[in-house]
Amino acid sequence: MLKSHSCGELSKDSVGTRVTLAGWADRRRDHGGLIFIDLRDSEGVVQVVFSPEKSKEYHEIASQIRNEYVIRVSGEVALRPPGTENPTLATGDIELVVDSAQILNPSKTPPFYINEDIEVDENLRLKYRYLDLRRARMKNNLVLRHRVVKFMRDFLDARGFVEVETPILIKSTPEGARDYLVPSRIHAGKFYALPQSPQQLKQLLMVAGIEKYYQIAKCFRDEDTRADRQPEFTQLDLEMSFVDEGDIINLLEELFTDLVETIKPEMRLIKPFLRLSYTEAMARYGTDKPDLRFGMEIKDLSNIVAQSDFAVFSSAIAEGGKVKGICAPGCGGYTRHQLNELNELAKSLGASGLITISLGASSGDIDDLTIGKVRSAAAKFLTLDQIKEMARRLAASMGDLLLIIAGENDLVNRLLGELRRQMGQRLGLAAPDTLAFAFIQDFPLLAWNKDSGHWQPMHHPFTAPRDEDIPLLDTAPEKMYGRHYDMVLNGCEIAGGSIRIHTSKLQMKTFRLLGYSEQEVVQRFGHMLEAFDYGAPPHGGVAAGIDRILMLLAGEETIREVIPFPKTQNAVDLLFDAPSPVTEEQLVELHLRLREE
Ligand code: AMO
Repeated sequence: MLKSHSCGELSKDSVGTRVTLAGWADRRRDHGGLIFIDLRDSEGVVQVVFSPEKSKEYHEIASQIRNEYVIRVSGEVALRPPGTENPTLATGDIELVVDSAQILNPSKTPPFYINEDIEVDENLRLKYRYLDLRRARMKNNLVLRHRVVKFMRDFLDARGFVEVETPILIKSTPEGARDYLVPSRIHAGKFYALPQSPQQLKQLLMVAGIEKYYQIAKCFRDEDTRADRQPEFTQLDLEMSFVDEGDIINLLEELFTDLVETIKPEMRLIKPFLRLSYTEAMARYGTDKPDLRFGMEIKDLSNIVAQSDFAVFSSAIAEGGKVKGICAPGCGGYTRHQLNELNELAKSLGASGLITISLGASSGDIDDLTIGKVRSAAAKFLTLDQIKEMARRLAASMGDLLLIIAGENDLVNRLLGELRRQMGQRLGLAAPDTLAFAFIQDFPLLAWNKDSGHWQPMHHPFTAPRDEDIPLLDTAPEKMYGRHYDMVLNGCEIAGGSIRIHTSKLQMKTFRLLGYSEQEVVQRFGHMLEAFDYGAPPHGGVAAGIDRILMLLAGEETIREVIPFPKTQNAVDLLFDAPSPVTEEQLVELHLRLREE
């Protein structure tokens, strides 16, 4: 090794020892005579001191050192003079008094500060990702990623799971996104598809008798990139034989409880994890991935206002719709401008309108509310009693603001769910150090796709229906529920899984219902149907998005912050400049010709 110790390893105990260190100049201060350099390596930072009295030659070298130079220094560890200690630095009690030094490699001036956590344009960070990863925050995220993945591996290993690698060059695996295709050189006109997930392979491993499989698996989906979506991402993928929903859910709960308590003990974990049916989640929170760190539940107000003189409410109900609302605590004093803004927000989400009822600017018991305190376009059409009853149902106090939407039930739920999410964020109701996990269960098996005129799976086509619903396949598919479960954390879907179909007959029937011809099923999924005919065990599993979990554990806003080399919002790798054109020879070899656009 070019060094005897790492910077972070040194402490008061090292005083008097001779050491050689190597790393990067994090910052340099020239105090006339003495030159101080904070030397950084992967394990920490330590102050090194060059004095002209010790050595003129090395002091001269130190005066040439600039930020990010790679240097090697030797000397004796000493206590810092009293009063010069730095309590913010782990090695702040000591320093290295240098008696020999070497510049191993100079550095150009970096395009942004490495030693300060300041806002830098993300494109610049991604273009120079190797410099960005030198920054403490990014390094911490990388280390967190390592620790989380290692924890998962150890946890599953201790429970008898076997990690199995599955291929990247494979055939289309439908998970609801577009495939990335790879043209074959050997087979003209044929393509591999990159796996959207190892779904079919892990099921085949169950047929193969591996009863407990897992993999830290790369998945590829050609879909629009968002804060929590990347074209290439990583799952903790697992599958078990002879299990039901409870086995998988309990395993996940145990895994994530242990993981958080071990790796992030400073975070507040809500235990036990909540369990909600899909229907309940939609009705109470307007989404199947609710942020459960705060209440602000949606309540049905229809029966209170069905007979009211306010046509927006009464006619919506007469047409079979609902009137529902949420309560924004402490927002009763919102200005006209703020209320208009909320109205615009609701409209931009697809609402025809938002009714706000402001319950006065100051707090107090709802019993004391007078009509004079109420501000609302609907106030003159509603009685004070109706307003009070709505407020009580929404657990509101004076000083709060009611947000009410009338219309078709599912739309009203969705709109209020989004308003709830945004208001929760705006009002700081979601404590950043709290982790609220929940399992969402009892999803409908299918959803009707108006565009294709076919049923489509809510999850994927391998999810089993509830046993008691199988007869409905032929008669009322819309009434079927799937054995599918999701795990959500702080408003983000972080895992999805199900108990699978394991007979070829039911699998064929399901595919037929999804609009595939028998021939298409055989061509695309024949290998699965055939495998099921060789003694496939009942099985089920789940996949958790590791990037999303890390984003939430690290308190980051996007998964790009926890992925070492992510793509931009536009699916571009700025460091490599990928995707990029290829040569004519490569195209010819692959039997491809580009179409003039
Ligand atoms: P699903 O499609 O729900 O299920 O994916 C599982 C989890 O993977 C994460 N995820 C993503 N993360 C980042 N970028 C993306 N583009 C992205 N897409 C999904 C989410 C999600 O909850 N084969 C099934 C699992 C199973 O049934 O066992 C599957 O992939 O956190």
